[in-house]
Amino acid sequence: MTTPNPTPSRRRSLSGIKSTGHPHLGNYLGMIRPAIALQETHDAFYFVADLHALTSERDPVAMRQQTYEITATFLACGLDPQRASFFRQSDVPEVTELAWYLSCVTAMGELERAHAFKAKKDEGTDGAAVHGLFAYPVLMAADILIYDAHVVPVGKDQIQHIEMTRDWAQRFNHHFGETFRIPDAMVQKEVMTIPGIDGRKMSKSYDNGIEVFMPQKKLKQRVMQIVTDSTPLEAPKDPETCNVVALYKYFATEDELAEMKAKYRAGNYGYGHAKLALFEAIDRSLGPKRAEYDRLMADKGELEAVLREGARKAREVAFDVLGRAREKVGFHRRPV
Ligand code: TRP
Repeated sequence: MTTPNPTPSRRRSLSGIKSTGHPHLGNYLGMIRPAIALQETHDAFYFVADLHALTSERDPVAMRQQTYEITATFLACGLDPQRASFFRQSDVPEVTELAWYLSCVTAMGELERAHAFKAKKDEGTDGAAVHGLFAYPVLMAADILIYDAHVVPVGKDQIQHIEMTRDWAQRFNHHFGETFRIPDAMVQKEVMTIPGIDGRKMSKSYDNGIEVFMPQKKLKQRVMQIVTDSTPLEAPKDPETCNVVALYKYFATEDELAEMKAKYRAGNYGYGHAKLALFEAIDRSLGPKRAEYDRLMADKGELEAVLREGARKAREVAFDVLGRAREKVGFHRRPV
């Protein structure tokens, strides 16, 4: 009855990113960059969470476009499709089946506490929230468990979902016998919250993001829009509370950062100067990747090929883990 967990030689890292809006620097620093770095040491599986995007995205053209943007962003930032598997969530239908099994060990009360739904409840709009939003954490748990993931590199906002995933995996294992590997979240400690141009957390829902590969001119305009206080040019300024410095630290060298902080404290250094330095640092880091991004976006053929090959590799694992779960609940392993 029991099929032992095959222990792959490398630990597996798994993560997804929802395809709504354009990827921004918060996504890049919090998830995309650390996830890509893991391909050196891990068997990396990353996907575009288009099923999750469908909870709010009703425009099929935008859906397709955003999927390509995310794929091109990962590739331009260094994801190597020879080593890592990159795919569309919706290309692995096994995951929706596993979500159902998990649904059957999930309490309504747990989902009511999940932050996206709870926000709707607090607003009083939960009655109109779609069921897909309510069930969002269950599908996310299926995403993680179906690939036998060891680690899940995510932004801080996803920690609650990973905790739920662990709970449900343990509960399922408890009821039906050892089935799922219990995953760990991996959060970039030093990249806890990236401020958006208005100083609040950079988020698609606040429309305060700086897109990773916006054209150079637009990037400059966007950086110039970062909100600062009205301290006059001559006066000394506090670098520790400034949104510009908060972003600069991720793109500047240590020396450059120290230099900017010193200039803030000395006075006669305006926010305009700081923003220009920030723009230059971002552009220096992302500019060369932008050319590759533009090349990939100009011809979707290469992106499609990567997504298909990724889905093929992902489905092999998913099929196997789903078969394990099916046997455990008293169904049978489907023939290949
Ligand atoms: N919820 C994540 C986001 O909003 C996307 C996601 C879906 C995900 N499934 C996942 C992340 C599984 C990590 C693991 O971006």
